Amino acid sequence: MKIGVSGASGHLGKAVVSELLQRAGGHEVVAITRTPETVSGPAHVRFGDYDRPESLAEAYAGLDRLLIITTVAPEPGKRGAQNVAAIDAAVKAGLKHIAFMSAVGTRREEEPARGASYWRGEQHLIATAPAWTILRMNFYAEAFVQLAQAALGQGVLAGLTQAGLPAGAINIVTGIQASFAAGLFDIVTGDVERLGGRPPRPLRDVLAAALKSPSV
Ligand SMILES: NC(=O)c1ccc[n+]([C@@H]2O[C@H](COP(=O)([O-])OP(=O)(O)OC[C@H]3O[C@@H](n4cnc5c(N)ncnc54)[C@H](OP(=O)(O)O)[C@@H]3O)[C@@H](O)[C@H]2O)c1
Repeated sequence: MKIGVSGASGHLGKAVVSELLQRAGGHEVVAITRTPETVSGPAHVRFGDYDRPESLAEAYAGLDRLLIITTVAPEPGKRGAQNVAAIDAAVKAGLKHIAFMSAVGTRREEEPARGASYWRGEQHLIATAPAWTILRMNFYAEAFVQLAQAALGQGVLAGLTQAGLPAGAINIVTGIQASFAAGLFDIVTGDVERLGGRPPRPLRDVLAAALKSPSV
């Protein structure tokens, strides 16, 4: 079986490709990215750009399974359009099963709300794919580390505008904080251990290791 990972050069994509290669069981892993030169190792690499749907036709050709990892594009509407383009290309390419990376707490929302692109992708996938899996990720421990580092450096999480972040990125960060406050991430499923075959590391340990302070 040929398993494709679209968005394979980022943090999540690299981790997924590496995990798949360790478990490949004779399956072929195809890493799809705009920057093939950044992907090393035994995976097959293909070029694919969510903003150039014609490139995806070739990138997804002949695959049996595909994981679509969304980008971090902060511009309202862009990520939603990318998700739809990727799903359309995968369905057209004849993919029998498409997995889509979404987020916990996804619900009907309009742009520029943080979750609107996930909602659009999920709905389009359900409506068009022959078989699908939606992976609703919770907040990454690594993302907490980044927030902690920013807060430790500046004393507060604000300061984003002064740090030069564009409005779209600030909208995403504050949107996530609002989601925390609304309890949207307060879900414990046990899926990490069930699917990964090992328990997740406690957040406390991840933070302590990253910040190198036993008191964190
Ligand atoms: N749940 C959470 O806590 C959490 C935290 C952080 C991020 N996220 C989400 O998780 C996803 C992955 O995060 P990450 O940290 O792995 O992001 P990342 O390291 O920034 O990777 C983003 C990936 O998107 C690819 N990409 C960007 N524009 C593209 C385009 N036009 N066409 C094709 N690929 C494109 C990049 O590859 P190239 O530039 O090489 O093409 C890269 O592989 C994002 O949707 C992000 O919003 C969730």
